Amino acid sequence: MPTRKKIAAANWKMHKDPLQAQTFFKDWQKLLGGDQLGAEVVIFPPAYCLETIAVSSRDLGFKFGPQNIHTADEGAFTGEVSPLAVVKMGASYALIGHSERRTLFSETNELIAKKNVAALRNRLTPMFCVGESLSERESKKTNAILKEQLVAGISEIKSVLGAESQLRLVIAYEPVWAIGTGKVATPDMAEEAHIFIRQCLGELLNKSQADSISILYGGSVKPDNAFELAKMANIDGFLVCGASLDPQSFFKIAKALNSVSI
Ligand code: PGA
Repeated sequence: MPTRKKIAAANWKMHKDPLQAQTFFKDWQKLLGGDQLGAEVVIFPPAYCLETIAVSSRDLGFKFGPQNIHTADEGAFTGEVSPLAVVKMGASYALIGHSERRTLFSETNELIAKKNVAALRNRLTPMFCVGESLSERESKKTNAILKEQLVAGISEIKSVLGAESQLRLVIAYEPVWAIGTGKVATPDMAEEAHIFIRQCLGELLNKSQADSISILYGGSVKPDNAFELAKMANIDGFLVCGASLDPQSFFKIAKALNSVSI
């Protein structure tokens, strides 16, 4: 079995300004106290905090990236985020296809696929989000939806990904009904979806590549449910909003990943 990276990712959405981000990292530094976490920590701040985050990341050794990118590297695209510019700032990840981008900003599978390409072209690791809505789950369409999203997002990047065994790609499974609702998927429910996602990745790529891709769970992850979820064999980390805004609770979530064998 290949070793998969454990990842604790924070999606701050439109929360925190640069000063609040600085305060977060002062507290984070105290919590770390010179220790290293076993999991890689990735922060997705609002775009106007990227500069602050870049400075803290150099001292504290975490990774960061934007919550969204444009498909082009530069041009007349008012209000958009250039993947090339964020790489120059030190970003190494890009969050792609979050359900809020899909539903509130009308991002289609086709557009999201192009964003995955733009990320890889710039050597950013896409943290590619997939997940079903409540009605899709209730009508037993979860697997069909996950497959559709994965096929669209991965087919486009297959040639860009290359044949390396350790691919530059992370998947975040976020059931839409669990995001910000306090309704977390049970560990078995999440594990079942992760196994299905890995199976699809095996069909789209190859088995050893699929086995090496970290699949994160997201949706109401909290310090008190992180440990049970982290114990599942196919849950390689978390993508967290609500509980990542407080350094103490995000630290506990990252620690939950430490205590399971890596
Ligand atoms: P939540 O959000 O942790 O607040 O449920 C997760 C996300 O939207 O990525």
